[in-house]
Amino acid sequence: QRPVGVAVLGHGTVGAEVVRIIRDDASDLRERIGAPLELRGIAVRDLSYDRGVPAELLTTDAEALITRDDVDIVVELIGGIDLPRTLVRAALDAGKSVVTANKALLAAYTGELAESAESHNVDLYFEAAVAGAIPVIRPLTQSLAGDRVDRVVGIVNGTTNFILSAMDETGADYAETLAEAGRLGYAEADPTADVEGFDAAAKAAILASIAFHTRVTANDVYREGISNITAADLTSARALNCTIKLLALCERVTGPDGKDRVSARVYPALVPREHPLSTVSGAFNAVVVEAQSAGRLMFYGQGAGGAPTASAVMGDVVMAARNRVQGGRGPRESRYAKLEIAPMSDI
Ligand code: HSE
Repeated sequence: QRPVGVAVLGHGTVGAEVVRIIRDDASDLRERIGAPLELRGIAVRDLSYDRGVPAELLTTDAEALITRDDVDIVVELIGGIDLPRTLVRAALDAGKSVVTANKALLAAYTGELAESAESHNVDLYFEAAVAGAIPVIRPLTQSLAGDRVDRVVGIVNGTTNFILSAMDETGADYAETLAEAGRLGYAEADPTADVEGFDAAAKAAILASIAFHTRVTANDVYREGISNITAADLTSARALNCTIKLLALCERVTGPDGKDRVSARVYPALVPREHPLSTVSGAFNAVVVEAQSAGRLMFYGQGAGGAPTASAVMGDVVMAARNRVQGGRGPRESRYAKLEIAPMSDI
């Protein structure tokens, strides 16, 4: 059986773990796919230090790597927007399947990228972009494709959930807890994307798009972060038998004119102690989906980190590889009907 060639763009926390799995689990993956999965190369910015992988796999020329004839699947894990957009477009245009964990890219350009994948008849998968290891993209795009989803509400940022849970549990203030999150490796050196809600807003845009078969971008999402939350706010929440969580809330809203619109918001919310999301603590994520026939579903687990995120990436790689081996592709994109964004005054 002809091998399936993989190019990995980026060798950070997630990229390194994806490379490790492809190399260490080769024989299992071969059985599951029905053909060998072969790593053709890893594109990195800096070749100057030892990454513990054979030097001949590393290149700084991502464009050349992704257009190689023996590359079938491109895994984009470099982060940012402009460069990955160019590379993902180039990969799709060259007929490669693409797996990406890049929520910022998808929250801005899913429409453009999905159209490109459709026109080249290749797969574009992004299970790892929202809530790490937790399967949420596939349930929404496939399992619930025949249902009508009304609401998706989740804790989709591990860093802020760690901070809010720790403030709730210890009574510590925001600055102290943020510093602790940094020491433990949860918060980045620049934690703005997490604490100001940009990361969660990108994920909300993706969730709203797939839940409601429309296109929502990060700019459409109302956003408030957690940097103004104080120890006193958590004390007041406790007095009400609530806690505070940074929620990503995506809803179908029927306006006064009877038309369906979509609303996506990220903000710190009071969550009653009896609500299952109140029990999600530490760096964990959870997503609750409410659908007309299915009722309420909850997805819970590790939403960040190298190994959990690599698990979701590898699931997509195996799906794309099977499609390459067995023919066809899937899942197909929904036929998108652009829903308007509901004004906040309708919420
Ligand atoms: N910074 C993100 C988080 C990583 O804390 O959840 C996963 O997207």
